Amino acid sequence: MVSEQNGFILREPGAKSREVIKRDVNALSPSYTRSYGFTIDHGKGSELWDVDGSRYIDFAAGIAVLSTGHSHPRVVEAIIEQAQQYLHIGGTDFFCPKPVELAEQLQRLVPIHNTAPSDKLVYFANSGTESVEAALKLARYQEGRSHIIAFYGGFHGRTMGSLSLTASKSKQREGYPYIPGGVTHIPYPARNQCEEGAGGWCDAVGYIEKFVLKKVPPSEIAAIIVEPIQGEGGYLVPQDDFFSSLRAFCDKHGILIIADEIQSGVGRSGKFCAMEHWDVAADIVCLAKGLGSGMPIGAIVASKEVMGHWTPGTHASTFGGNPVSCAAALATIGVIEDEGLLDHVTELGDYTMKRLHAFMKDHPALHRVDGKGFMIGLDFYGSNGEPSPAIRDAIVNQCYLDGLITLGCGSYGIRFAPPLVLTKELLDEGLSILEHAIAQVEEDMW
Ligand SMILES: Cc1ncc(COP(=O)(O)O)c(C=O)c1O
Repeated sequence: MVSEQNGFILREPGAKSREVIKRDVNALSPSYTRSYGFTIDHGKGSELWDVDGSRYIDFAAGIAVLSTGHSHPRVVEAIIEQAQQYLHIGGTDFFCPKPVELAEQLQRLVPIHNTAPSDKLVYFANSGTESVEAALKLARYQEGRSHIIAFYGGFHGRTMGSLSLTASKSKQREGYPYIPGGVTHIPYPARNQCEEGAGGWCDAVGYIEKFVLKKVPPSEIAAIIVEPIQGEGGYLVPQDDFFSSLRAFCDKHGILIIADEIQSGVGRSGKFCAMEHWDVAADIVCLAKGLGSGMPIGAIVASKEVMGHWTPGTHASTFGGNPVSCAAALATIGVIEDEGLLDHVTELGDYTMKRLHAFMKDHPALHRVDGKGFMIGLDFYGSNGEPSPAIRDAIVNQCYLDGLITLGCGSYGIRFAPPLVLTKELLDEGLSILEHAIAQVEEDMW
């Protein structure tokens, strides 16, 4: 039995969920985009319970954030220990050991083009969009270079600077007339669209050379910002030669590559940074989401040569590098390494791809399955051969009714983005729910 309230379909019994949703609608901004009525009570590992006591498997990880799952004991312990010592000091004006410790870990883990670990520097922010703002300011701090190239479908955040780079959905920019300029968007060479011959421009460097350089000389281009695997845009993997050709072009013209690893980084793809899959390193790397296992933190990493342009006062933040968030991030890195999560994600990600590809053969509504590790996108089409947001929405809803938390991406995709600690047992249980939901919606709507 289900019922509807405020546009959400609710599982029964949903009295407590309904009550929270009713108050939420009267108290919180209408700009949030909830598509169903899941109302959290608590989580543990890769499982969740709603306020009415129903259990769910989590394939969304709080929008690809909960890398170590819900309330990993080691992360919780690190948070408590730091909170008892001190909560805040203001890393812009005082020295503090925790951000130093975390910066040293990121020097070791985040590859930067032609840079040894000890020649890297780290700046801390509080979120993804702030990391992107920092990267944007750093790239533009170079003398005479201010233009930025970004990709259609890319999502880099919602504050004004990062919004100028975002071209994922027009809704995100609609109604804001003063978004900063100096940005040219170009087509993202998603390998599935290129293989299907439907993607238009698959040679990104060719596009820049043919079109962008007619408008802006390369000497004025500060950076090209790219998600190694597009996230909000639809979990799209680029063509294999994309990063090597981009690197060669940027090296030739002295242009920086900013890798927005906010969604794809911290192990989600099976590597610490997703760009490692292509053996190419960026000049500035943005991290956030999974870094703090749910505590707000963002970071950018760059070479001393690049970040060394900044002088005291050129950029800072009161809360950036908060010691509690840094403690959570240090524990997150410890869990990822000690529990062998990169190998785990690679192995179970391959298994998931195989299982969904096999399922796809008999289920034409599932049009595409692609990704890396625990960053896999599923696209849904209708019987008319066109992408179908309606079928996708119905499957997301059906999963919720059957006890699986999923999230859409792009216009007609579902993202598989579970906690990195997801067990094989829960993965199998969750995939069965997903497959059942697809089959059921296909029966009704195909
Ligand atoms: C690739 C990417 N960059 C930036 C952001 C913005 O992060 P935040 O929502 O923490 O500001 C997101 C968020 O979804 C993202 O996926």
